[in-house]
Amino acid sequence: MSPVCLICLDPTRIEEGDLLARDLGLEFHVESSATGVISKREERRFYQTLLNERAGVLLLRSEGLGLLAAPEDEALWIKADFCDAGTRYRLAQGGGNEMIAKAVGLKGQPKPTVLDCTAGLGMDAYVLAALGCEVTLLERNLIVHALLKDAIKRAQGANDPQIAAAIARMELLEPSDAAAYLESYQGKALASVLYLDPMFPLRKKSAQVKKAMQIFHTIVGDDTDAGALLPLALGAAGNRVVVKRPRHAPFLKGQPASHSLEGQRNRYDVYLKQR
Ligand SMILES: C[S@@+](CC[C@H](N)C(=O)[O-])C[C@H]1O[C@@H](n2cnc3c(N)ncnc32)[C@H](O)[C@@H]1O
Repeated sequence: MSPVCLICLDPTRIEEGDLLARDLGLEFHVESSATGVISKREERRFYQTLLNERAGVLLLRSEGLGLLAAPEDEALWIKADFCDAGTRYRLAQGGGNEMIAKAVGLKGQPKPTVLDCTAGLGMDAYVLAALGCEVTLLERNLIVHALLKDAIKRAQGANDPQIAAAIARMELLEPSDAAAYLESYQGKALASVLYLDPMFPLRKKSAQVKKAMQIFHTIVGDDTDAGALLPLALGAAGNRVVVKRPRHAPFLKGQPASHSLEGQRNRYDVYLKQR
């Protein structure tokens, strides 16, 4: 099920919301009853009412664009965010030691350039940009792309030099399918590293799968065409392709990597280009 409408709760963003709804082909509503100051409880009730007849709703609020969904009984708010406390903490704890940094070969100078072919909500791309890489982002899902674009815009206005520096190294391309994009550039090295993190089918019933991830999955699907990206990415990478997989998942397209880095939940398969 996909969200069926976009609701604007911020009177200053009505025009923007209207345009976005047209772009996404969604029904658009302006909701004025919730724009005043209301208690958390009233707010929760309001959201629950919105969701009674829908699987999800895109909400444009002063805090940003987010997807509201009700996986079970409780409303849940998903948005891309590079300024939240968790992300700041993660980077302050030495993002340079992150496996993703090792996987892309981020040691010394010059820093690798990265084309993130499956940008999603942009967290991996943001971590790499914060660590000094120039990162180009591709995302094909229109709703996810809109969430990502909104997060980048919010971060640009965050008034934090570190965030601003990272965001300045990120370029989000117009929504497009990475396979079509890479095909149109065959033969050219588009970046030193091409990064792939396609969706992987969820393990049903796993308590470890967060609700937010379940909802994200509902919007995006399983990316069953992901295997086709690997040969195209190898054709367009200057140095390597990095594929993020669940730790025990088979290699993408069954193609063994040059080496892998394993974490608790994820694995980074590194495909070095033959020279
Ligand atoms: C698991 S998410 C990526 C998460 C991301 N690495 C992050 O840190 O937020 C996968 C995303 O890749 C996108 N995607 C999958 N295949 C794609 C393709 N061929 N072209 C563009 N985007 C694609 C999906 O729409 C989805 O949003």
